[in-house]
Amino acid sequence: MEDENTIRLLNKADKQVLRSLEKGDKFSDELELSTGLERSAVINSGRKMLSLDLVKMDGITGEEILLTELGKKYLSEGLPEYRVFEFIKRNGSVEYRQIFSDIGMEKDEISAAIGYLKKYSIIIDRGGKLTTDKDKEKQIYGRNSMLSQIKEGKSIDEGSADDLFKRGILERMSKLREKFSITSAGNRVINNKEFNVDLVDVLSSENIKEWEGLKFREYSRNPEILNSLSGKLNVKTMFSSFIKDVMVSMGFKEMHSNYVESVFWNFDVMMFRQDHPDRDIQDTVHLLGGEGKIPNDVLSKVKKIYETGFRLSKYNESTGYQREFDESKCNSLIMRGHTTATTFRYIYDVISKNKDQPVKLFSVDKSFRNETMDSTHLLELYQIEGVVYGDNLTVADLIGYIKQFYSKIGIEKIRLKPTYNPYTEPSLEIQAFSPKLKRWIEVGNSGVFRPETLLPFGITKNVVAWGFGMERMLNLKLEMADIRDLYGAYTDIDLLRDLESAKIFSEI
Ligand code: PHE
Repeated sequence: MEDENTIRLLNKADKQVLRSLEKGDKFSDELELSTGLERSAVINSGRKMLSLDLVKMDGITGEEILLTELGKKYLSEGLPEYRVFEFIKRNGSVEYRQIFSDIGMEKDEISAAIGYLKKYSIIIDRGGKLTTDKDKEKQIYGRNSMLSQIKEGKSIDEGSADDLFKRGILERMSKLREKFSITSAGNRVINNKEFNVDLVDVLSSENIKEWEGLKFREYSRNPEILNSLSGKLNVKTMFSSFIKDVMVSMGFKEMHSNYVESVFWNFDVMMFRQDHPDRDIQDTVHLLGGEGKIPNDVLSKVKKIYETGFRLSKYNESTGYQREFDESKCNSLIMRGHTTATTFRYIYDVISKNKDQPVKLFSVDKSFRNETMDSTHLLELYQIEGVVYGDNLTVADLIGYIKQFYSKIGIEKIRLKPTYNPYTEPSLEIQAFSPKLKRWIEVGNSGVFRPETLLPFGITKNVVAWGFGMERMLNLKLEMADIRDLYGAYTDIDLLRDLESAKIFSEI
């Protein structure tokens, strides 16, 4: 293509990116800083100019330092050494005993903190009494602020953070970074006088009136470029339909449902305690206004069992929570936090109405969590939900279904671990080994529904169920370390395009 024609395709952001690359190669995050553009704009421009041969891109795997769960806890509370330091400073001169009894931290944490503070003489032991060294204050504050620096993606002095890795507060993860550089064609284009002519990018009611005098940016009709932009099925869409095929091959029927759900079907019906950390398992996205309709008969039975339990026989009884159940909260609307809400709607609509009929149901659908996105967490995730109703089902059946499913998907290395859900007993967490992350990661959760959750529907047989996270499963199949690689600006577009390289299918 003639350089002039190429230039006519460039918008303001593209030009900014190119100008910045003229000064030197840059990673996408450096381009964000140098141009002031958002990450998505930088990546879009980068990719567009890549197809125009104006820039080159290399994927460079580097390391990223992240806070572990413990690290996140300390981010809000302060590092133990920081808290102990503050405590001693506040109290002037303190005996060891006082720290252990008054500070409200775990013994091990306090010992590690004192160890650190003594090692660097930040605190001084004078005959069993501890005081702080004022001159070292900066050192301990600086150390504590490392956590927020990491949270913000800033770099830290790794040398002084060695023990934070050892103590499981920080971890290293591999990260793909995209490095852009300008090509000779790019250099030519930038030195062409046409490059500095401002083209109109956006039509407005003002500029359209005088369109004849204006120069507009052009859209490409070049088949090569159009082809590189044309749509294909996303690997996630393909994977979800593959999973649906697997479920159908195992004799399951699909459930259909909505994203918006009332608190009742998401929590209450499953005996999540009201005003209780039980509900924090899912950071819920609440909606303002509107209310859900709840069948009265079920609501009053749920209330009764919640408050006082039930007694079917000497060996099959429950006291309930012995607390009042507040119905006024049940109708509020939320974005459902798990597809088990749908399972319970089907328990009501289908199973409770045909109690003699064994049935196996599934859904592959979206759930929403108000979480911080990281390498294993998304705000919107697909869950593979399964539920089996029949005679004499036991945990062994549940385990059988789980193993069969994962093996059909082509994931063999899984293990089960007891866990807690308010609505199942026993409950089993499913973990799979990620060769990429070199550790076991949680990929699902399952259990046998507690009788308290089924009796409001008049169901006395066992019901086994599970929810698997689809994205984590897909990442395992694709051998990707970071769940974000498939979504948003950092997706690997070639991988998404190249269906054959997506090793997601196996024989059903
Ligand atoms: N709802 C659970 C989750 O979101 C999964 C689950 C479903 C667990 C059914 C037990 C039974 O993790």
